[in-house]
Amino acid sequence: MKYIVQLGICLLGIIGVVAAQQSPRKVIDFNKGWRFQMGDEAGWKKESFKDETWRLLDLPHDWSIEGRFAATNPAGNAGGALPGGIGWYRKTFTTNAAPGSRVSIEFDGVYRDAEVWINGQYLGKWPYGYTSFSYDLTPFVKYGAQKNIIAVRVDNSQQPNSRWYSGSGIYRDTRLVITKKAAFEKWGTFITTPQVHEQNALFSATTTLLNIRKGDRSVDLRCEIYDPSGNKIATALPTGSWKNDSVCTLQTEIKQPQLWSVKSPQLYKAVFKMSIAGKLMDQWQTTFGIRYFNFDAKKGFALNGEPMKILGVCMHHDLGALGAAFNKSAAKRQLRILKEMGANAIRTAHNPPDPQFLDLCDEMGFLVMDESFDMWAKKKNKYDYFSDFPAWHRKDLEHMVKRDRNHPSVFMWSIGNEIREQFDSTGITLAKELVGIVKELDPTRPVTCALSENDPAKNFIYQSKALDVIGLNYHIDSYAAFPVNYPGEKFIAAETVSGLATRGHYDGPADSLRKWPSSSKFKYVENGNPDFTVSAYDNVAAYWGATHEQTWRIIKKYDYLSGEFVWSGFDFLGEPVPYPYPARSSYYGIVDLAGFPKDVYYMYQSEWTQKPVLHLLPHWNWNKGQTVDVMAYYNNADEVELFLNGKTLGRKRKADTSFHVTWHVPYTPGTLKVVSYKNGNTVQERTVKTAGTPARIELTVENKNIRLADNELSFVSIRIVDKEGNLVPMADNLVKVTTTANARVVAMDNGYPADLEPFQTNRHKVYNGLGLAMIKGLNKGTATIRVTADGLKATSSSIIVE
Ligand code: GAL
Repeated sequence: MKYIVQLGICLLGIIGVVAAQQSPRKVIDFNKGWRFQMGDEAGWKKESFKDETWRLLDLPHDWSIEGRFAATNPAGNAGGALPGGIGWYRKTFTTNAAPGSRVSIEFDGVYRDAEVWINGQYLGKWPYGYTSFSYDLTPFVKYGAQKNIIAVRVDNSQQPNSRWYSGSGIYRDTRLVITKKAAFEKWGTFITTPQVHEQNALFSATTTLLNIRKGDRSVDLRCEIYDPSGNKIATALPTGSWKNDSVCTLQTEIKQPQLWSVKSPQLYKAVFKMSIAGKLMDQWQTTFGIRYFNFDAKKGFALNGEPMKILGVCMHHDLGALGAAFNKSAAKRQLRILKEMGANAIRTAHNPPDPQFLDLCDEMGFLVMDESFDMWAKKKNKYDYFSDFPAWHRKDLEHMVKRDRNHPSVFMWSIGNEIREQFDSTGITLAKELVGIVKELDPTRPVTCALSENDPAKNFIYQSKALDVIGLNYHIDSYAAFPVNYPGEKFIAAETVSGLATRGHYDGPADSLRKWPSSSKFKYVENGNPDFTVSAYDNVAAYWGATHEQTWRIIKKYDYLSGEFVWSGFDFLGEPVPYPYPARSSYYGIVDLAGFPKDVYYMYQSEWTQKPVLHLLPHWNWNKGQTVDVMAYYNNADEVELFLNGKTLGRKRKADTSFHVTWHVPYTPGTLKVVSYKNGNTVQERTVKTAGTPARIELTVENKNIRLADNELSFVSIRIVDKEGNLVPMADNLVKVTTTANARVVAMDNGYPADLEPFQTNRHKVYNGLGLAMIKGLNKGTATIRVTADGLKATSSSIIVE
């Protein structure tokens, strides 16, 4: 750096020239045109192997989701009851990289035990299915017109290896990166804003350079900073002395910083440029955010000085009917639905997410607890990561932290979930080691671990004293005594609730509580419903959990409880407690697998947002003589009144600690109406009518315009309604979705956890009146989507493929 300062003003002239030069760095999308084959033969890695008969596909790809559900699939229903196995991918490519370049291949995620060859040369194995990795291809790659072959063997045959659905294959993006030899190291840059004031903030970035000649005075390094509106506002220059001529810190002041927050997620851009003798050698850029936060043992959490609760949900990585194959627009839809509910944080249970998921969280304003592992050296499943942990945990943890540490959304690291080492003294040493690995790479964020043993005397991970914030799972009854049991410690409810519900299904009495399974004696069900449903009155929870309402009541009450991560935001594939097969996806979600909110979604919305909420449940199709429990969630009102066929059934107010009101209503068909009042004036009204037989199909299209280049999807919600437009609450019609030739149905779902029809089809039953079709564009233009069902009036809609 001293060289640059010495060069002073005359360098500025050169800089202008440098800025205009094209960066030699090329980042090439490597997802298209792979050959795929299930099975395993030694010869498939060979350069000479002829793979033309293999299936041609584009990544991301998950072969499990394409399979058939079966009780005999070794993943079991906890793993989603879909097939695993071994699969191979091969891709032929040429590169016009100039000889002397560095060429590398990057994988964002392969489940699991990925082995990679180029031109028959073995590059290595990457066991963990959730961390990103790359290989330097430079020594093996052939340039110009010569063909190169990448072969990838993916082995998900040893099962069970997961407590949830993992997916199989190269299920995240791949890319080829070409740079000069002198370049920014991959993940070698760490941006922080160590001082943030109203008038200014300090931008500080430490970056690692590859192949810089020691003492080379002609190296110019700088970082241009753009504000959220895209204006160039500052340039950071090296400061202090270069550590060893390859690690350098650049700093600058950012005036009037626009802070990143969950309400206003302002993103800056940093463009790093490295030139030698006036020639641009490498350019690399990232977004970043300016924010500060702290946890306090008494006051809980504050972001940018403002106290706030962490209103979080846990999310597994699958995207429902798409399986594990990442699609940004599908992840965005999940996040949009959660944002509208009022969630402001996500815990990536129990592994690092797709990097684009974090981009979305940066852009949409979610805090993220980025989690590394579900087990350490002690297993939870026969073939899980435990056997790789000793040799690989350092690398996996390093890759997570280095990859994700520039995301403003990521606010804490979790070194594990319900790790069995919490029960013995190995927990002390391992926790210290893992926290140490994280802190070496990122001393700025707190580290936690999601602990299930809430007795501090029995919890060895807690006793390591290595955690910055104590993460407790469940045991809400112990939260009141947290300051006494954990004096001076900071708290996060790393996992809560585990309520169970099927969208649109109701078993009364609504205000009863069913623990289901009732104890550890019962893995599966005592007295299940024959159709594998669970009541959606928020009256069922696993015995280790509590209802949504019980949990939120406590989290809300104490300031020192910084917040919670509800298990779970969405239903996910696998872990269908409380049912055995054919149940194959979870009941835990606030939102079902297809993205349709369950009723309790509105409890959160009424508490976690300011927008006026009034939600009435259940449907109004019952049998005469039944007494039905009717509930309403509401806010921004003093009281609500229920009417049946125009006759009042009385006004009610929520009790101080309750988030809903209930009426017991003798059923007569007709119209149920609820009205909310504030100061005597009507705020909102909702009605539910007794529906007749299915007559028509109604469509709602989300993402009407989809970009081909970004692999965006349209989401078509299908509602079966009677002739007056009322949702038919038990409708299960088989619907068929066809499109014009420039689009295709990629998957359908209905959110029913025991549905055994494949997802990747264009005909599927709806469940409780609702279904979903996900549409992909094939060619630009308008695409018509037509939905038909026997005996019903067909409906069409259109989307625009751009
Ligand atoms: C927790 C666990 C989660 C999930 C949940 C279901 O104990 O951390 O992964 O299994 O229970 O209730």
